[in-house]
Amino acid sequence: MKFFIDTANVEEIRKAKELKVLDGVTTNPTLISKEKRPFMEVVREILSEITDKPVSLEVASTDVKGMIREGERLAELGSNVVIKIPITEEGLKAVVHFEKKGIKTNVTLVFSPAQALLAMKAGASYISPFVGRLDDISYTGMDLIKQIKKIKDNYQFCSEIIVASVRNPIHVTESAIAGADVATIPYTVIAQLVKHPLTGIGLERFLKDWESVPEKPF
Ligand code: G3P
Repeated sequence: MKFFIDTANVEEIRKAKELKVLDGVTTNPTLISKEKRPFMEVVREILSEITDKPVSLEVASTDVKGMIREGERLAELGSNVVIKIPITEEGLKAVVHFEKKGIKTNVTLVFSPAQALLAMKAGASYISPFVGRLDDISYTGMDLIKQIKKIKDNYQFCSEIIVASVRNPIHVTESAIAGADVATIPYTVIAQLVKHPLTGIGLERFLKDWESVPEKPF
């Protein structure tokens, strides 16, 4: 399973890069707004950090013409730019347009298998079902991933499933068990994945016992 980082913060992207587990970046208008800097400044910085892996940048228009105009402008910023488009009727038209032009798309705000099916049929390169937000309203978000994976396999759709709205390490491991192609993960959760209380306790004990070993070579 590929690991994308879900952030517009360049420092977090750099830290994730150092861990050597980073396969791409996803952003959205909320994440961009948290940076409190001009949009193009943030985007150019992300693209100078990530040159050879997919970077999803979201359109802000709701009509197909606007989505195409914005998406084409964003696509000019780098060959690794993926245009993130909400799952609406207008959005699907834009996906078909970009697919014909060879520009990759990431269909976002997916909350049902039917939405995912439509996006896959339209030729989306990626689809982003949001597990955390479903959990928030007392649905099991991970069930959606299993359903979409089944539909994808039934018809050999090429779209990659990105598990989005990831809130904790369980979301990540369950995504891998379900066979998702990608999980897009906030940096805080990537950091949590490394940790286990027993690892901390075990390491502390090893270091303490090491102190009493005589004639250490290093
Ligand atoms: O990028 C889309 C998604 O990952 C947002 O997550 O935490 O705002 O539901 P969240």
